[in-house]
Amino acid sequence: MTSRRLVLSRGGALLGAASSGLLLPELAQAQPGKVRVGLMLPYTGTFAQLGVAIENGFRLAIEENGGKLGGREIEYYKVDDESDPSKGVENANKLVQRDKVDVLVGTVHSGVQMGIQKVARDTGVLSLIPNAGAHAATRSLCAPNVFRTSFTNSQPTLALGKAMMDKGHKKAVWITWKYAAGDEAYEGFKESYTAAGGTIIKELGLPFPQVEFQALLTEIASLKPDAVACFFAGGGAAKFIRDYAAAGLKGKIPLYGSGFLTEGVLDAAGPAAEGIITTMHYSDSLDTPRNKAFRLAYAKTYRMQPDVYAMQGYDTGLLLVQGAAAVKGDLSSKVALYKALESATIDSPRGKWTMSKAHNPVQDIYLRVVEGKENKVLGVAAKALADSGAGCKMG
Ligand code: BEZ
Repeated sequence: MTSRRLVLSRGGALLGAASSGLLLPELAQAQPGKVRVGLMLPYTGTFAQLGVAIENGFRLAIEENGGKLGGREIEYYKVDDESDPSKGVENANKLVQRDKVDVLVGTVHSGVQMGIQKVARDTGVLSLIPNAGAHAATRSLCAPNVFRTSFTNSQPTLALGKAMMDKGHKKAVWITWKYAAGDEAYEGFKESYTAAGGTIIKELGLPFPQVEFQALLTEIASLKPDAVACFFAGGGAAKFIRDYAAAGLKGKIPLYGSGFLTEGVLDAAGPAAEGIITTMHYSDSLDTPRNKAFRLAYAKTYRMQPDVYAMQGYDTGLLLVQGAAAVKGDLSSKVALYKALESATIDSPRGKWTMSKAHNPVQDIYLRVVEGKENKVLGVAAKALADSGAGCKMG
């Protein structure tokens, strides 16, 4: 049987098998030919740079491991998801139904991820999430074939509240894009900040991906909080940082954030970013041989510095390399493949991490500060932090 025919038959056969995690016996055979890897990422819009960094990191990990998966060559298929949730299912199906990919790597935006999640659950295709932190993907809608290599949206901010209170900021304003990522980052912030004794005096927001911050910054100035905490990322984050300074708030009301605020934007944000404190599962300045080797290899290959997104793409590649090796390239051996992915330890630039039962990283969260063009690590804000996985019924 050719790999194409095998894969074609797989879509329907696995519909029922997907939820049980079981496999039909005839599918557990070696698949000849190339592994079809689908990349569904944003290549346009405010998250475009994030998509590119993830793809770069992913390819670097594969190349460093011989350029193959379990001995098989790779064929890449790409879709620009434009960070548009309304096209999430359609775009995922382009890769799964049309291109018959063996594994779908994607995406960045939590709303788009929900489209991928539906397709992954319906078809049983292996889905690796290299960024989007939507809680549901590894909570109520978790699935045996879905693995996240990044974070849940509340993981970084669960470490933020105490850090702000430790600095004496007792009254804060929260501001974000109003969609799943911002709302769930707020959940983590609210839990940690109020538990540490802080009071959130106002929650502000604007729709994704709008960047007209002026009216909200004026409101912050009149509220006079001790500090501001936020979730923004990509191009919008760079503009928020610049606008915050231009509104005269920098130096008066300290700005904090989920670490995405200062990832991959320090050139674009310029001096306005100096001194911003964030919490994140990575820092450029982690002084480990593993991080240094990664940063050097990435910079040599792509002539630019890696950020958290590049690192997450890299770890997605490392995870897939491990899984594929365990099944000798036979990605249709689902039971053995999932077992290998579940029990993997990833020797990551962020530090070693493992998968939670719900398939989300158990990882350290660092406290960082922007110094020049670097997110400099100040310490570990939360050790081996696991997401609750609430509502995940995988056992
Ligand atoms: C999200 O939509 O889940 C997301 C996007 C950018 C950075 C972090 C999270």
